[in-house]
Amino acid sequence: QHLEKRIAKDPALLLRMKQSEMQMQNWITEHPHTFKNQQLIIIPVVVHVLWHETIENISDDQIQSQIEILNKDFRLLNDDSLPSIHPFWPYTADAEIEFCLASSDPNGNATTGITRTYTDSISFTGDGNEKLSSNGGTDNWDPSKYLNLWVCNLNGSNGTLGYAAFPADLATSPSEDGVVIRYEAFGNIGTAGSGGFDLNNLGRTATHEVGHWLNLRHIWGDSLCGDDFVSDTQIAEEANYGCPTFPFKGNSSCGSDSNGEMYMNYMDYVDDNCMNMFTFGQAARMNAALNGDRAELLTSLGCEIPNLVNEVSLENDIDIYPNPGNGNFEINIHKLKYDNISIRIYNLVGFNIQNFENINIFPFTIDINTFSNGIYYFKINISDKIITQKVIIAK
Ligand code: ARG
Ligand code: ZN
Ligand code: CA
Repeated sequence: QHLEKRIAKDPALLLRMKQSEMQMQNWITEHPHTFKNQQLIIIPVVVHVLWHETIENISDDQIQSQIEILNKDFRLLNDDSLPSIHPFWPYTADAEIEFCLASSDPNGNATTGITRTYTDSISFTGDGNEKLSSNGGTDNWDPSKYLNLWVCNLNGSNGTLGYAAFPADLATSPSEDGVVIRYEAFGNIGTAGSGGFDLNNLGRTATHEVGHWLNLRHIWGDSLCGDDFVSDTQIAEEANYGCPTFPFKGNSSCGSDSNGEMYMNYMDYVDDNCMNMFTFGQAARMNAALNGDRAELLTSLGCEIPNLVNEVSLENDIDIYPNPGNGNFEINIHKLKYDNISIRIYNLVGFNIQNFENINIFPFTIDINTFSNGIYYFKINISDKIITQKVIIAK
């Protein structure tokens, strides 16, 4: 429903989603199994608590419980996963995605990864804009570098548990990117399961919404026997609710196979205690999103220790040798996570004599041995900071 609203506001989104879909399918074809062996992806999360009643100002522990649930569900560490004799077990995947509560904010300063905002709004309606500071919420942190999770009272929304933005919408509507979840369906302690939401008490709303945020569709493709663009999720007739018994063939008009529907998939609508799996196809799709529209997350510093991203220690992380030298300098940066570094070389009187852009591979050699002897400054632009290092050429 939220996607339909977004498309109504911005019809071109549909086309962008098609393009993004093609890109993603190409990535999956070109990287058939890499997601299983890749470096683990850790997504920095910031939780924005919007509260009007004190009870909505949920505790740090409750927030922590949600992060732990995400880490279990996306690593197949959930203790309710299918037994290995289950016909759907062979499809069940470790998505190899983890989450951290951000330790560095967008400026590189220390943070708890939690913001708390008192709001005049008694309840939110599920409209994408309302969570923004202009409407009584709080703005997201750079959505290309963080997963923004808002928690609030969604009672104006007709029972919506949560909603999410899709990756293809990031570039064009960055301020709306993120996931919104009602405080009664967040984490598994405190207010989780309260207010009549006792069947959504295990933090699976976030698992489901983060699935959307990483480009997963509902397994029934949001239409009768529709397509979720994932081949190892059986065709499903429509949403399932409650907790069916396996094999569930109640929805059989699309000829689902003898095992019936994969109702226990996180991208169905069953109760929290009934959903327990992503498939390999879904894992590939999420990893494609992390190498496509959301690739900026791979170089986010949100999970780094903050004093590692301040200038003083950055200086210590940069080696230039030999210095003094004959003009052939090797530069090494120890934090490999930094990419697209540029180095500008200035002479003693501040004249910019040469630039090196988009350096991604270290050690990197700078050959300026045609320059005359003397003092030079390397201005190294690294994650929005400029570090100046003095270099001496003595031939
Ligand atoms: N957007 C869906 C809703 O609001 C989320 C469903 C999550 N399902 C769950 N069992 N937690 O209904
Ligand atoms: Zn959904
Ligand atoms: Ca499918």
